[in-house]
Amino acid sequence: MKGFSTIAIHGHEYEDIYGSHVPPIYVSVVYEYVDQELGLAKFTDRGTNLKYGREENPTTRALERIISKLEGAEDALVFNSGMSAISTLFLYYLRPGDKVVVPMELYSSVFVLLNHLVSKMNIRVVKVWPSAEAIIEAVDKNTSMVFIESMTNPTNKVIDLEYLSKSLDLDEKTLVVDNTFTTPVILKPIKYKAKLVVHSMTKYFGGHNDVVGGVIAGYRKNVVELWEWRRLLGGILQPFEAYMVLRGIKTLEVRFEKHSNNAMAVAEYLAEHSKIEEVLYPGLSKSPYHSVARKIFEKPLFGGVVSFKIKGSYSDVINFVKRLKVIKRAPSLGGTESLIVIPIKAGSQFIEPEYRQKLGITENLVRLSVGLEDVNDILEDLGRALNY
Ligand SMILES: Cc1ncc(COP(=O)(O)O)c(C=O)c1O
Repeated sequence: MKGFSTIAIHGHEYEDIYGSHVPPIYVSVVYEYVDQELGLAKFTDRGTNLKYGREENPTTRALERIISKLEGAEDALVFNSGMSAISTLFLYYLRPGDKVVVPMELYSSVFVLLNHLVSKMNIRVVKVWPSAEAIIEAVDKNTSMVFIESMTNPTNKVIDLEYLSKSLDLDEKTLVVDNTFTTPVILKPIKYKAKLVVHSMTKYFGGHNDVVGGVIAGYRKNVVELWEWRRLLGGILQPFEAYMVLRGIKTLEVRFEKHSNNAMAVAEYLAEHSKIEEVLYPGLSKSPYHSVARKIFEKPLFGGVVSFKIKGSYSDVINFVKRLKVIKRAPSLGGTESLIVIPIKAGSQFIEPEYRQKLGITENLVRLSVGLEDVNDILEDLGRALNY
């Protein structure tokens, strides 16, 4: 079983006496002790006990097997949100005095969380330009973790992971890659020596804007250690949500292809439009990130997020966004519905103003998550709202 979608559909390894092909939703919170005196329950394939719903659940386990295979990892742990996965990882790995290197452009809540940890745990966070060169320069012997996103949000910069992994001694440091924007359909960070890969499953994995979840994938040893922290912090994904993601992930590859193709058509259309100042999408051959994306992405697909700058003032941008009908004004990305945000107000407000300016997160920037609607309807919606 090698093909991506075959694994996404059949890779759960779930079996029962009925011959179910679809892992059922296990609602039981408690499981029988095999030996009450020893406190032993049935062991899962990870060597952990199946006795209590905050620790393990057969439906969540089925999902973990699929994701771990898709990422080329040894194991995975699912959480009740992307932030739950990321906070568990930080709490487990970071110790007082540690230095963490991050790009100055990251999902905002990760910055807010890191700021809290700076004051509570005395860790040091060094923010650099999102490039392999800048990260390499900032990493020193005191650095314990490098945390990056596979494509930055919202300006879609792509860090050269191949160069980064060749240049850093990653046996000593923990490289964590948030692969939410690219998914294993086009990028498997473990190939580039990432120790851990995280996702907001709320995005492409779930894919339908109807489930919140997160995941960490990596080597068995690290995952088992993190399992203990998930148990203690209580962040396990609940069985119904696990089922929703199991269902969504079956079509991840076809959805991601359509998101990317729709996004490419949108980017090309906007790039030629007289009311548009700039389009930020690595799929465009003019993008400064096109060649690195072609190098590290496994397919010529670039995801569903297209950011662009409208010629005009902030109020022109607000009016443009208000005129859209098919595209909805809402946060998040990677789902069936096309969604649009103005990053300075929603998403990037916690990035320092001087960094926002350097990164190009301006008042006239919008971020569009291109959905799975008919592309002509999306183009028509954009055209009508722009040509008003
Ligand atoms: C790149 C990225 N990572 C992590 C998260 C956090 O995930 P969640 O909202 O599922 O907690 C988000 C949310 O938007 C995100 O965009």
